[in-house]
Amino acid sequence: MSEKIDRIIAAAPVIPVVTIRVVEDAVPLARALAAGGLPAVEVTLRTPGSLAALEAIARNVPEAIAGAGTVLSKGQAKAAAEAGAAFLVSPGATEALILGIREMGIPWLPGAATASEVMRLREAGFYRQKFFPAEQAGGAAMLKGWGAPLPDVVFCPTGGISAANAKDYLSLPNVGCVGGSWVAPSKMIAEKDWAGITALAQAAAALPR
Ligand code: 3PG
Repeated sequence: MSEKIDRIIAAAPVIPVVTIRVVEDAVPLARALAAGGLPAVEVTLRTPGSLAALEAIARNVPEAIAGAGTVLSKGQAKAAAEAGAAFLVSPGATEALILGIREMGIPWLPGAATASEVMRLREAGFYRQKFFPAEQAGGAAMLKGWGAPLPDVVFCPTGGISAANAKDYLSLPNVGCVGGSWVAPSKMIAEKDWAGITALAQAAAALPR
């Protein structure tokens, strides 16, 4: 399983976290992000049209890697996979999700915010995890602290990350990529400022790691 998620983590230093309110925005948004060098995109399942948005990207934007975020249940995981999600992301993890998603065999970034949560997921075979909410849960210093006792777990921190602090995370050996909404701000999506989003994506794609 880690090989498949590794390809998504390796695609770019940043996975944009996007919340799509107007389904028609999905395709131009994913195209704008991919054009800037960010192919993987996490569509949060927080809006009524999120599955339709995910499906539209999966079908119409071959240069993108569409994933589903905010996956809280096995039902949502299945619906996202049916909509064409290439990967799933969750803010945490439950036994039901661990069993259900393992059975589905789809790449998954389960969330962890404490050493015990990291260890439980590691025991379950998940060596690639989302650290969430990154800034609130201890930031880059926390991940640096986990690096010594848990060096084989690679994180994609998300939550409060921006162009200003992304480098602090990306410079750590146990960080594969970071996630965040700063590359696709809701105001720019509402204004359909696709060129502006491509420019933000270009800057994010150029971050060293
Ligand atoms: C997530 O779902 O991972 C977060 O809401 C994204 O966090 P951000 O908006 O602080 O980047």
